[in-house]
Amino acid sequence: MKSAISLLSIIAPLALGTSVARQSGSNPSIDGLNFVIDGESGYFAGTNAYWLPFLTNDADVDLAMGHMAEAGLKILRVWGFNDLNTIPDDGTVYFQLHSDGASTINTGENGLERLDYVVSAAESAGIKLIIPLVNFWDDYGGMNAYVAAYGGSDQTSWYTDADMQSAYQTYIEAVVSRYVDSTAILAWELGNEPRCPSCDTSIIHEWATKTSAFIKSIDPSHLVAIGDEGMGLEGGSDYPYTTTEGTDFALNLAIPDIDFGTLHLYTTDWDVTNNSWGNQWVQDHAAVCESLGKPCLFEEYGIKDTHCTDELAWQDTAFAADGVAADLFWQFGDTLSGGETADDRYTVFYGTDDWECLVTDHVAEINGA
Ligand SMILES: *[C@@H]1O[C@H](CO)[C@@H](O)[C@H](O)[C@H]1NC(C)=O
Repeated sequence: MKSAISLLSIIAPLALGTSVARQSGSNPSIDGLNFVIDGESGYFAGTNAYWLPFLTNDADVDLAMGHMAEAGLKILRVWGFNDLNTIPDDGTVYFQLHSDGASTINTGENGLERLDYVVSAAESAGIKLIIPLVNFWDDYGGMNAYVAAYGGSDQTSWYTDADMQSAYQTYIEAVVSRYVDSTAILAWELGNEPRCPSCDTSIIHEWATKTSAFIKSIDPSHLVAIGDEGMGLEGGSDYPYTTTEGTDFALNLAIPDIDFGTLHLYTTDWDVTNNSWGNQWVQDHAAVCESLGKPCLFEEYGIKDTHCTDELAWQDTAFAADGVAADLFWQFGDTLSGGETADDRYTVFYGTDDWECLVTDHVAEINGA
């Protein structure tokens, strides 16, 4: 399947000699501690634009994707979930409705067809996507949207409840099988920042083991990661190093169907006052990744309002660490048909001075300029 696709992508443009939309390249893979993207093994820069599949204007998707591709960003993380409990009456995009103990997937034009467009735009742009399949947080529904429909105490019951896990797997199967043949998928992620506060680490470990095996049974050709923040590891005593949130970084990275580790970094949100702390955080994860022989992805990081000092230092630390394969700053911003995209003060807008330091200079450094 894989070679048939790449053969087609080589032959089709020659035979047709036109700008027919086509898939570029091959499925991303792993080579030691690096990602391989379209045959190139090395370090890659990327970003997050969680909102891209929720846009209803194709031209906006093309514009944002075009700006990323032109800048040399190779990896893009977008939300592959959008759960709710009541259907919006204004055509707002959503992917799954949970109501009265049942779940219904929205495959229509204000549903997964929007994600279809993002995937096809990424294929054309040569950008590789990372797609998490549920949110721990309540934004865009999250685990609590399931809990509201199925019952349960809070998010922690979600990981072990048979009915909610069945609905989650049905959703995974629908999304993953939809893009199983796309070379624009870098990885599926079990969720965005899955935590199980005050839980034994066995809960997330067992859920991640079962779910990653389930995804590989549907789609053995794409990579799988957890999408967690990387909490729970040796090297420090501050809160993020503890297993308070129910995650053990090394234990979970050792799961056979988990292909790479993920780490996020938000000092202020974690009550860490010295941003230099972040450099050690990156290096401590890189060391675990090296010891387990799987790459680390520095997949979210940001500092509010100030992007060209300590945030750059974190980026440099990641680039210099053997165990880190790529970094994705949080988050991409642009000016689209409806105005500026979401600005959470972490946003770095295309074309600004901050963009120059965090994206243009970084990509040039990676490319050895
Ligand atoms: C922040 O941490 C770094 C590295 O540990 C240290 O060199 C620096 O002195 C610290 N800064 C402050 C203001 O504590």
